[in-house]
Amino acid sequence: MTRILILGGTTEAGAMARTLAEAGLNAIYSYAGRTANPVAQPLPTRIGGFGGIEGLAQFLRDNAISHVIDATHPFAEGMSRNAIAACADTGIPLIALERPEWAAASGDDWRHVADYAAAAEALPGDGSGVFLAIGRQNLTPFLGRGHRWLLRFAEVAAHPLPDATLIVSRGPFSVPGDLELMKRHAIGHLVTKNAGGRAAHAKLEAARMLGIPVVMIARPALPERHVVASPAQLMGWLGHAERGV
Ligand SMILES: NC(=O)c1ccc[n+]([C@@H]2O[C@H](COP(=O)([O-])OP(=O)(O)OC[C@H]3O[C@@H](n4cnc5c(N)ncnc54)[C@H](OP(=O)(O)O)[C@@H]3O)[C@@H](O)[C@H]2O)c1
Repeated sequence: MTRILILGGTTEAGAMARTLAEAGLNAIYSYAGRTANPVAQPLPTRIGGFGGIEGLAQFLRDNAISHVIDATHPFAEGMSRNAIAACADTGIPLIALERPEWAAASGDDWRHVADYAAAAEALPGDGSGVFLAIGRQNLTPFLGRGHRWLLRFAEVAAHPLPDATLIVSRGPFSVPGDLELMKRHAIGHLVTKNAGGRAAHAKLEAARMLGIPVVMIARPALPERHVVASPAQLMGWLGHAERGV
């Protein structure tokens, strides 16, 4: 019997949940529990970590899960690695629904870096304004780097940077809005993760229009796994997998 687990927390996971619900498929949606008011999903929903690879494998067995969809954020590396390992251990098919990476367009000035520490190193350290658009985790490499930071979180949260202005706002964001924000805070650099997708793309268009350099943090490399880019492709895979072909 088909019983799907969606590892969620993204816009794409929500779209996948709607597609599965409309198709009448038996599925459970899982949130990490990071936000106080998670978006309601049209599927039975559970919240919180599983307890590592072992905990996830146990959950998969206890709930008779037949397929796992990893629709977590491309930077949710720990969850994605655990899903690969737990599915390998239990023999349950795994598929990732992943948005394509952003690519630089004409007029963009992007400096590609491998991780957060390299992003901090890539900044000039001259006290100028930096829009540090990387969420609320992984901010410590930027401590003591001598910039005025602009942070944008989806909800109020503590952060370690003393010289920071925090804007609380949940996407999708607009180009006029991000242009105004970056001008108002006299931003000289933008630091972002290569998340992909439309909801957070406006800041890159605003940076291009303002001639602002972008420090682009690459996605973490993961072990090989089956990846699709849309719910429609994923439904095709589910049909394929159900026939056991
Ligand atoms: N990282 C980002 O930039 C980002 C951006 C937007 C949204 N999100 C979403 O926020 C959540 C947390 O992201 P993260 O980067 O902190 O994850 P992470 O570092 O990959 O995961 C850390 C731990 O959180 C738990 N976890 C993560 N996603 C979960 C899920 N969907 N359901 C149940 N447990 C989950 C797991 O705990 P156990 O080991 O105990 O199972 C996992 O080992 C994810 O659902 C992700 O899709 C992340």
